[in-house]
Amino acid sequence: MTGKKINTFTRLVEVQQLAEDVFLHRYKCPQIAQRANPGQFVMLRVAGGIQPFLPRPFSIAGVDESKQTFSILFNIRGEGTRLLAQKSVGESVHVFGPLGTGFTIDKNIHHHTLIAGGMGIAPLFFLLQKLNKLSVTKTLLYAARSSQLILLRPELESLTDNIAYITEDGSLGKKGIATDFVGDYLSPDSTIYACGPAGFNETFIQVARSKGVTRCQLSLEQQMACGVGACLGCVVRTRDGYQRVCTEGPVFPLSILT
Ligand SMILES: Cc1cc2nc3c(=O)[nH]c(=O)nc-3n(C[C@H](O)[C@H](O)[C@H](O)COP(=O)(O)OP(=O)(O)OC[C@H]3O[C@@H](n4cnc5c(N)ncnc54)[C@H](O)[C@@H]3O)c2cc1C
Ligand code: FES
Repeated sequence: MTGKKINTFTRLVEVQQLAEDVFLHRYKCPQIAQRANPGQFVMLRVAGGIQPFLPRPFSIAGVDESKQTFSILFNIRGEGTRLLAQKSVGESVHVFGPLGTGFTIDKNIHHHTLIAGGMGIAPLFFLLQKLNKLSVTKTLLYAARSSQLILLRPELESLTDNIAYITEDGSLGKKGIATDFVGDYLSPDSTIYACGPAGFNETFIQVARSKGVTRCQLSLEQQMACGVGACLGCVVRTRDGYQRVCTEGPVFPLSILT
């Protein structure tokens, strides 16, 4: 984990509903806007009362240093995200972050391939913004259930050199799920960054190994309580022993994942 963490209230300055039950929130927080790296996350305390008691983790989906803001993308999953979706511009939310270890950008590699499944687009959107400042090529493979759940399409198309969509219902791009096509996009010459839903990781790891890729990082999700490595509630087994998703991760190199 790098850098100083901020534990404070932030003001919600922008709300966009991007699809049914999917929202973008932008919060004013100069420190996070300056310090965050793609792949890192924040813990938001979504309720003033005790329910839900624990803060919820969200990937940082981008920063605007000039406006001193950071953004998150989220979908409604349970009580915490339902309450978050009810917040309006001007309200304050308690934030703790930036947390965790994000993606490492290898500036010596020319071709960067990003693989996103569902809300996995959130950290990769921030990563694309960073990569856009380098003279590298960027390919994005983005899978979602339907075209309505392909988020921020114009922005993504302006940030990438090549983009391919996969939807489960075939309403945009190829019909299927990310892991049906991911092998076509994994080249040992690229550096690869991936983030997808729970069912994605195991198959992705197998396909990536079979393709012989070495420069590959995968962002994992686990339920979290503390977010700072203290409770051990988020550990995963790796080839280097048990590691905490909130601290050593959420981004891990393929080489240590099992
Ligand atoms: C590092 C990290 C980054 C994340 N980034 C984002 C993001 O950018 N956008 C986004 O929408 N969500 C993200 N999540 C997931 C988000 O934290 C959960 O959706 C949120 O905590 C759900 O809270 P809730 O109170 O609405 O639902 P709960 O009532 O807590 O849970 C609803 C259901 O979802 C399941 N669930 C909750 N959290 C997780 C999880 N982390 N993994 C698997 N199952 C879970 C629960 O078991 C339950 O079945 C991230 C999680 C992690 C760990
Ligand atoms: S959430 Fe507590 S150790 Fe990771």
